Amino acid sequence: MPTRGFEYRSGLLCCEDVSLEEISSRVGTPAYVYAARSIVENYRAYTRACGAVPHTIHYAVKANGSLGVLALLARHGAGFDIVSGGELFRVLQAGGDPARVVFPGVGKTADEIDYALGAGIAIFNCESEAELELIHERAKRRQMRAPITLRVNPDVSAETHPYIATGLREHKFGIPIGEAEDLYVRAARMENLEIRGVSCHIGSQILDINAFVEALSKILDLIDALRRRGIPIRHLDLGGGLGVGYRPEDETPEIGDYLQALLEKLEGRDLELHLEPGRSIVAQAGILLTTVLYRKQSASKEFIIVDAAMNDLIRPALYKSYHDIIPVRAAGREPVTADIVGPICETGDFFARDRRMPLVEAGELLAVCTAGAYGFALSSNYNARPRAPEVLVEGGSFTVIRDRETYADLIRGERTG
Ligand code: LLP
Repeated sequence: MPTRGFEYRSGLLCCEDVSLEEISSRVGTPAYVYAARSIVENYRAYTRACGAVPHTIHYAVKANGSLGVLALLARHGAGFDIVSGGELFRVLQAGGDPARVVFPGVGKTADEIDYALGAGIAIFNCESEAELELIHERAKRRQMRAPITLRVNPDVSAETHPYIATGLREHKFGIPIGEAEDLYVRAARMENLEIRGVSCHIGSQILDINAFVEALSKILDLIDALRRRGIPIRHLDLGGGLGVGYRPEDETPEIGDYLQALLEKLEGRDLELHLEPGRSIVAQAGILLTTVLYRKQSASKEFIIVDAAMNDLIRPALYKSYHDIIPVRAAGREPVTADIVGPICETGDFFARDRRMPLVEAGELLAVCTAGAYGFALSSNYNARPRAPEVLVEGGSFTVIRDRETYADLIRGERTG
């Protein structure tokens, strides 16, 4: 199954050493459950593979920004990739080190830039000339120099869902590679900017390592050109994007293989490697636990209606993404072909369609796999549904790192007129 840290023990699905039945009896369902050791292992796979090459792994907060997850990674020395002032606030609340924070994003506001300058983040990855000018102006007011890279768009095509590909000329992200050199020269003349290096990010859920290598080659050519012009470049940020398997038959690229391919090209280049992985650290280490509410048969279809919905996990509705769905009790049973759907009043509220799976009855628990990345982070209160709790399991113990929202939470900050 496409999860890490989850396995059947005596026929019962467990997260590390805790059964999912025990978690459900404590926090109810729907609930997100994460395997802490797997998260740490994935992070370590990055740092281990970098070996002696100077590097920082900036975990992409957007994938799963829950305080408990951020604090876990901060304790193990991770840096962070943020895309908003709110994400910086979360990192700081979780004990993250601002000096290891990078800040990409096409629409940074003046307030966010001020907040990040004040906090002392490591680098702004700038995505346009206008943004560069704004960062320069805000840094000047503080009489300081803002550390920057330009986020370059290398114009490589990576095979992924069109909503999450970012590395082509037609995308809104970064500075087209052909224009980057001139902009660097202009940036070098701005007194309150300190050019540190180059960054890029070509997209997410990329399974073909060659796409990263192609982007890297183009970026290295740019770095050579910049160095020839006397612009010192030390910091190379290749973004995130390494994909994971979602289907049982999918292969997940090894983090070590991915890094080996990159490091081969970096040998002897005197560069510091920065990466911004999100999904590859948390996706497979998380599941969404849900209870079957009803079975329902129509003329031609079997529906399994569960208590989780698209407000909890929107990826199937938004990207038609596949998530494996498995029963918590693995008793041998008849297979069935069914749609697994939630209670929300939209036809798009489904987790799977025409899925072949073991027949489950009302009251049984199911795990929606590979939900640790962009699961809770994309959840909402649609249909006035309180958001699910999150549980972090570490070995034989677990912590509720976020309570289930209450009805009172649903109306916080609102007034009737
Ligand atoms: N760095 C930048 C600048 C990014 O835009 C992203 C993701 C990352 C790093 C982390 O990428 P990762 O390693 O997680 O692939 N909601 C979508 C994914 C959106 C990704 C957006 N950017 C999904 O559920 O598949």
